[in-house]
Amino acid sequence: MSTGIAGLYGTPAADVVDRPAEAIQFSPLMPGATALEAQGDATLASMTMLAPPGTLERRYALAQALRAVMPGGMVTAAAPKDHGGTRLRKELQAFGCTVNETARRHHRIAVCARPETLTGVDAALTEGGPRLVEDLGLWSQPGVFSWDRIDPATALLLEHLPPLAGRGADFGCGIGILARAVLTSPDVKQITLIDIDRRAIDAARRNIDDPRARLRWADVRDADPEMTGLDFVVMNAPFHDGGNEDRTLAQNFVRRAADVLRKGGACWLVANRHLPYEAAMKPLFKRAELKIETARYKIYMAQT
Ligand SMILES: C[S@@+](CC[C@H](N)C(=O)[O-])C[C@H]1O[C@@H](n2cnc3c(N)ncnc32)[C@H](O)[C@@H]1O
Repeated sequence: MSTGIAGLYGTPAADVVDRPAEAIQFSPLMPGATALEAQGDATLASMTMLAPPGTLERRYALAQALRAVMPGGMVTAAAPKDHGGTRLRKELQAFGCTVNETARRHHRIAVCARPETLTGVDAALTEGGPRLVEDLGLWSQPGVFSWDRIDPATALLLEHLPPLAGRGADFGCGIGILARAVLTSPDVKQITLIDIDRRAIDAARRNIDDPRARLRWADVRDADPEMTGLDFVVMNAPFHDGGNEDRTLAQNFVRRAADVLRKGGACWLVANRHLPYEAAMKPLFKRAELKIETARYKIYMAQT
């Protein structure tokens, strides 16, 4: 067994893979984690990963992991069968690895020693890395929410959002599309963009060149003492956590919005129609108005 610094990417379940007792966390979805991109070549003794679901994103993460692990160091990558698991072996083989594959709890687990010579890693790093998406004219990266197109719910909110004023926040800002629209109002004094995905925040930083914008790689659910008495919050609230529908996540976003708004402040929210927002908003806001309803989405404006 090799000694040295172990890497961990995400949180694979303990009954799927053996997790190292001590490891550096590299997941871009865990605020505060080290960026794998910043880890020197061949500096890690091993890497244990819950490989991400998107193909470009996963190949990028695997390539980064292989680059960072020293030759002979073990790379263990697990993924649910229907979220990339069945592709892991071939993807690692394409990088020059000899792979041993097992299955446990609906996951595939691919284990290999990092070979001396890697193939195809540079292409995977380019294809999965940050890039300017020409159709959008914005920076983004595979793996980020709706990374290469405007999400239809976001587009709907953009259509109906009035000019805002004062200090506010964009909860789950992604690459900054809503915040960019908000900042077209000269009456906006400040907007804090928050996202749990470091890649989104890095892209938003490139997409928004405005001294009124503050960017935070953070979990919206965590308290932020600087965020209080806001005039507005905008959000296209997430309802997936780790690929599974999680209604409490969106409800927690709504709760946080009510917490950070001043009396009379407004929360503009677009959401999938099937999600039970009314129930979450009623006890928290003085009034919640359904502004727009389409076959798929609803826009609410809720005031404290
Ligand atoms: C539906 S997307 C909207 C993104 C962007 N506002 C847009 O309209 O394109 C929701 C965003 O919330 C982020 N997110 C999910 N859970 C979060 C959390 N707990 N804290 C902060 N951001 C979170 C996701 O990374 C994603 O970028």
